[in-house]
Amino acid sequence: MKKTLTIAGKEYGTVWLAPMAGMGDAAFRRICKEHGADYMTTEMVSAKALCYGDKKTPALAAIKDYERPVAIQLFGSEPENMAKASEILLGFSEKSGVYPAAIDVNMGCPMTKIVKNGEGSALMKSPEKAAEIVKAMVKVCGDMPVTVKIRIGWDDHSRNVVEMAKRLEGAGAAAFCVHARTREELYSPGIHPEYIKAVKEAVSVPVIGNGDIFSAKDAEKMVNETGCDGVAVARGALGNPWLFEEIHMGKEFVPPTKKERLTEALRHFEFMIEEKGERVAVSESRAAIAYYTKGLDGSAKIRGLMNTAETADEVRHILTTFMQGDNHR
Ligand SMILES: Cc1cc2nc3c(=O)[nH]c(=O)nc-3n(C[C@H](O)[C@H](O)[C@H](O)COP(=O)(O)O)c2cc1C
Repeated sequence: MKKTLTIAGKEYGTVWLAPMAGMGDAAFRRICKEHGADYMTTEMVSAKALCYGDKKTPALAAIKDYERPVAIQLFGSEPENMAKASEILLGFSEKSGVYPAAIDVNMGCPMTKIVKNGEGSALMKSPEKAAEIVKAMVKVCGDMPVTVKIRIGWDDHSRNVVEMAKRLEGAGAAAFCVHARTREELYSPGIHPEYIKAVKEAVSVPVIGNGDIFSAKDAEKMVNETGCDGVAVARGALGNPWLFEEIHMGKEFVPPTKKERLTEALRHFEFMIEEKGERVAVSESRAAIAYYTKGLDGSAKIRGLMNTAETADEVRHILTTFMQGDNHR
């Protein structure tokens, strides 16, 4: 795999964390960064909510200096809103002095509540609108690149990612991350890497391959089959931020021990407390911790205990007690 790729004149590493609503928050990004994620994208942020001044939304878009390069992802269906939301994000950056690497447009989310508003992957059914969105954002973003996260099409009858990518590149998109499934396929097994290859051959901006990368081998296969410039992982990094090291190191990688996994789960939890406070961290950490403990002896018991834990000390006690056990892989 190539070590670097260039977006709008700036060089980045090639092993990326893909955006994940509900999971890819600041605490998780901090962990992934430590494990070698070269470039990350925030959870998707509603352009509409930003424009209407929703109080909770800016926190989703907040990025820290140490985690850069990070792109902020917006979802929306209206060019004006998407441009205004981009301006708002740039305003936040001017205030904090921490700039995203790019503003990314979500054209891949398959969720009904999103696509019914014409947002996310529904934009693949409206190429003209999608291009207007990118154009409007590029106009207000100036030097800040606008990138696009996209699927290969809406369904089997409209696998139009190549036409879309060409059109969006023409509108000013500076890079594409392609999840090699249609909207209709959601996350069903098997991807279509040939579409990533076709996009790579059709555009001259970087193309990041995404979908079903759970190991260094999967990443290598993605690059070999598609010629993509980099890879983005999502589910594979849940409970396994070591995936970034594995992809970087290849054969030399040594998997974490049970103790290391539980220690990382605990650190992740402490970062969540720092970011969101104890009450929210205790409830939101259940999913995150379940990923770290998946497959370990006693994981079902940990899940059960986590579901009833109400305080940070209870969570710490659960994890440290399980850490005392054996130290096998
Ligand atoms: C929990 C979860 C949340 C996601 N949220 C987003 C999102 O906010 N924006 C987006 O573009 N994709 C989102 N995705 C899609 C992922 O970025 C990625 O494209 C998809 O999971 C395929 O990659 P993977 O096989 O490595 O998981 C999400 C996926 C998951 C599992």
